[in-house]
Amino acid sequence: MPSTILAIESSCDDTSAAIMHDAKMLSLGVSGQKIHAQYGGVVPELASRAHQQQIVPVVDFVLKEAGLTPKDIDAVAFTQGPGLLGSLLVGTSFAKGFALAQNIPLISVNHMEAHILAHMIDDPKPSFPFICLTVSGGHTQIVLVNSPSDMIVLGETLDDAAGEAFDKTGKMMGLPYPAGPVIDRLAKEGQRLYSFPIPKIDGYNFSFSGLKTAIRNFLIKHIKEDADFIENHKEDISRSVQDIIIDILLIKLEKAARAYNIDQLAIAGGVSANSGLRARLEALCQENGWKSFIPAFRYCTDNAGMIAMAGHYKFENNAFVDQSITPQPRMKI
Ligand code: KG4
Ligand code: ZN
Repeated sequence: MPSTILAIESSCDDTSAAIMHDAKMLSLGVSGQKIHAQYGGVVPELASRAHQQQIVPVVDFVLKEAGLTPKDIDAVAFTQGPGLLGSLLVGTSFAKGFALAQNIPLISVNHMEAHILAHMIDDPKPSFPFICLTVSGGHTQIVLVNSPSDMIVLGETLDDAAGEAFDKTGKMMGLPYPAGPVIDRLAKEGQRLYSFPIPKIDGYNFSFSGLKTAIRNFLIKHIKEDADFIENHKEDISRSVQDIIIDILLIKLEKAARAYNIDQLAIAGGVSANSGLRARLEALCQENGWKSFIPAFRYCTDNAGMIAMAGHYKFENNAFVDQSITPQPRMKI
């Protein structure tokens, strides 16, 4: 039976709502939070407060865009975790209240599974099984996706996430937060002149904390010789850092594809917006006769469209939760 699902995402610093009908996206609204830029990272208390201010206008916006009223909604899906507790609480409470008021089912969604299922929104879609590299500000995982409800984490970061590697490098370079998109832009004008070591980590796990230290030491050494080193070489530094992060990610992704004999590789999460990563994934797949799947920009960073897609699969399976549900900040796949 076709369903109309309202989805809510509030795990970090984007308040987002979406409406999906029969697996087709009717409307999507995302309200970011500029306030964190001045602090160089997300301040949890401020994020929670901003979600409280933004959630009603964002939901009103998507209902209007879709030409619907609350009575037209068949179920409400929301991000249960992982994420910041105060942020998750706002979306969870709103979803529970909406479901109760409309007397409709409630669907809880894992944010990391939803990032992956963003691939099922628009064509071309991968078929199951495929492997997804999920890279965001809080997570870095390689996941074997057997079906929407059967995902196996093959490896993940032991310390910093790939997005943090971009953001922390940007902080050291004096770039605004979040630095990922800025480094991406600068890297296009630069050359890979500086090399950094690739960490030796077993299996499909990652580590970015050693790279962070290597970059810090590199910058300190060069600034001692030339106080304007960063300003004069920001393009080449950005290109070199971006390329080593991509090397670290793709070495493990390629290894997993070969070991599990999978010929469809996907990327998801905020860092999958990176133009260098997108181009290198496409090249890797072309060389090997594999297929690459790269989501549209609006479905890379945090958005409720992906929550709606995950909610759609759960709706089909009658996988509903009741009003006793609470946020899970450390929820796992
Ligand atoms: O998935 P996301 O929106 O939020 C989390 O769940 O973390 O990811 C945000 C992360 C930030 O670290 C940001 O710097 C990074 O994604 N990011 C990028 C780019 N766009 C966003 N990193 C590299 N290149 C980009 N173009
Ligand atoms: Zn995310």
